[in-house]
Amino acid sequence: MSTELINITINGKAFEVPKGARLIDVCREKGFDIPSFCYYSDLALQASCRMCLVRIEKMPKLQTSCTITCTDGMAVTTQSEEIEKAQRAMTEFLLANHPLDCPVCDRGGECELQEMTFDWGGLEERFTEKKNYYAERYLSPMVANDPQRCILCKRCTRVCDEWMGEDAIEAGGRGAHTVIGTYMGWLDCSQCGNCIEVCPTGTLLDGTYRHQTRPWELAQTISTCNFCSDGCQMSLGSRGGELMRVVARDRYVNGLNGEFLCVKGRFAHPFVNHEDRIRTPLIRYKKGGKLIPTTWDEAIRFVAERLDAVANKSGRNAVAVVGSPRLTNEALYLLHKFATELVGTDNYTTTDAFSLKSFFANLGAPLATHRDIRYAKTIVLIGGEPEELQPLTGKQIRQAVRNGGAKLVIVNSTRIRLVEQASQFVHIRPGSEEAIVLALGDSSANDLAIQKAGIEAPEVDAIRQLIINSSGDVVLMFGGELGSEAQAVFAQLASSLRKEGTRFLLHPLPLFNNSVGAHDMGMMNAPVSPTEMLDKCGDEVRALYVAGGFLPSQLDVRRDALASLDFLVVQELFQNATTEHADVVLPAASYAEVDGTFTNNDGFVQRVRQSIPPLHQSKADWMITAQLAKELGVDFGFEMSASVVFREISEKVGPYSGMRYPLLKDETKPIQAKYTIAEDADTASSLRLLRERVQALPDTGEKLHAPVNVGHELFKIGTLTDKVPQFHLLASGNPRPETTRISPLYQITVDANLKQAAAGD
Ligand code: SF4
Ligand code: SF4
Ligand code: SF4
Ligand code: FES
Repeated sequence: MSTELINITINGKAFEVPKGARLIDVCREKGFDIPSFCYYSDLALQASCRMCLVRIEKMPKLQTSCTITCTDGMAVTTQSEEIEKAQRAMTEFLLANHPLDCPVCDRGGECELQEMTFDWGGLEERFTEKKNYYAERYLSPMVANDPQRCILCKRCTRVCDEWMGEDAIEAGGRGAHTVIGTYMGWLDCSQCGNCIEVCPTGTLLDGTYRHQTRPWELAQTISTCNFCSDGCQMSLGSRGGELMRVVARDRYVNGLNGEFLCVKGRFAHPFVNHEDRIRTPLIRYKKGGKLIPTTWDEAIRFVAERLDAVANKSGRNAVAVVGSPRLTNEALYLLHKFATELVGTDNYTTTDAFSLKSFFANLGAPLATHRDIRYAKTIVLIGGEPEELQPLTGKQIRQAVRNGGAKLVIVNSTRIRLVEQASQFVHIRPGSEEAIVLALGDSSANDLAIQKAGIEAPEVDAIRQLIINSSGDVVLMFGGELGSEAQAVFAQLASSLRKEGTRFLLHPLPLFNNSVGAHDMGMMNAPVSPTEMLDKCGDEVRALYVAGGFLPSQLDVRRDALASLDFLVVQELFQNATTEHADVVLPAASYAEVDGTFTNNDGFVQRVRQSIPPLHQSKADWMITAQLAKELGVDFGFEMSASVVFREISEKVGPYSGMRYPLLKDETKPIQAKYTIAEDADTASSLRLLRERVQALPDTGEKLHAPVNVGHELFKIGTLTDKVPQFHLLASGNPRPETTRISPLYQITVDANLKQAAAGD
């Protein structure tokens, strides 16, 4: 949009507005209410509902304000008898086939059609003809559908196409018999539920929550998702201590994700109240014995005694501390403090799949926010698969290309779904991502990169050219395939590719909701990876304090590591492969039961808010660590409030300086951590080591050509999704049931094979 200002009048009042601004947005921004159904900011125009009518001087008929851009001298009227009459007629028309079954509709109480009818509708229904009728049905385990409530605004179809790139839902039939549906009546898609979220009526509904509460019975708590590193804002709806549903933050005031959530953020929450949650502290008094329920006092005393005994006998490094990147900053900060200040051990780490230490140590440009990605002009993605692992980032990339004309370069060993949007796909041999980073950082390594990645010479030059010719921001993204040297070179690419007038931004793609926070809180400082930590178990490390569990992939190759310890204490939500050998298990509270913060891949520090009281006897992770420290004779002074922990974080962790909970309260204006940016850092030694790594790669190898299935990562059964039966159906290939009239879950009762084994998150 132009920055040039022009003059218009709205209802006789004069305003200066940007030339080319959309009239409906301008009127609303200036305080003039305009009703709409089909208009949806940042989606392609539909212009079908005709609710947004206005009168524009010198134009013959009433105009739809969603399709008009402002021009100089425009005189607009938004309210008049003529406009109101037309809007009332449109509302009446929209309700002609609507069943008016608000008392049994899950959307009742938060339905735009209901609100609009109250505000703009007529008082009586004049249509007496028989209404169209379509039976209620399920479109998938997640999406329920009452077709006759549809007003054909097509928000759902546009969101599915433009945000998700899936085109899974479409309008079928003609005229008054048009219905929203899908091929063969069953949705084979990523099940994000965004079509449900944007539907202004009760046509598309959350199939996992159907008829469970009325919306006004729910207490709404704004919090941050606990799955991937995108950090979506969401509203947790709870009733009587139970988390009933999750929706994106709010239809009108949104966080960084607007109304977007993915299948995990929206539908995987039932793990919170699951009956398998660990209920009390448990002690295994002798190896091989049973875990026996005990009190918190006894458990804490027991753990403190054992850790003390191991440290006294075998030295401080014999006690190790491991934290999950799912924990809050407050919990991770206290674990780091516990490890370094109280125990004084060098053995601490996180269970994250890869460390971000080298990336942040060499950060050569600011982090890109999700908004920056949406409006970038060039995006380079090396490795990773955001549409499955960081779905909001995937959506932003797709929209940048589709709605913003951005150029996308994808370097990957697999033809990931985003390739459909790419201007250039560099199809490399598996494991050769670092070769491309090397070539971009040092053009003298071009030939080496081409040889190892199995690509043609012009392909690397084409990436450089695209970056150099970018007409706006360049966002550089990387996935977990890059080791520490490649991360260092990647983080400094802005220096080697710099061009006057182009802003470079970096976007890491870690896997977990607080991977960035785990780095910031110092848990990635020690040079010990989780697998190296397991290798040390039973040898240098004799006692291990774990908050959260190891990943199954880490334990798979080191099955005996935990069993070889003298003492293992684990804080967890559920029993899993890590608690199997634990001497003490402490029940931890979930994200819905605690206060705190997560830091996302934009570097935004966002609030996690308590929605329900901690279940059973569980406690916040940071609180357990503080109690244990006190029992060991060090009072951290944090026993009652997470905000006090955060205050110390803001004093001790440089990038968080000056932050306080009250400053983080507005999700529409998230606050970014202030990372040190080292422009033109010396990368000579990283380049040398990276070249050695790339030289060690094989010169031959088959490329992968198998197509990737939607949901191959999203639907994987982990410790948390294991607790949600709908995910088992998705993981089993989302079979179409014989009848779609009842919940598809009945399939699990007739075929137990549809239950997948949990693989861990
Ligand atoms: S759930 Fe998501 S992907 Fe599936 S139809 Fe709805 S918007 Fe499309
Ligand atoms: S299903 Fe909902 S979002 Fe889709 S066209 Fe109908 S009313 Fe609009
Ligand atoms: S994209 Fe990531 S943060 Fe957003 S809802 Fe999905 S898992 Fe949660
Ligand atoms: S909002 Fe303008 S036509 Fe629907």
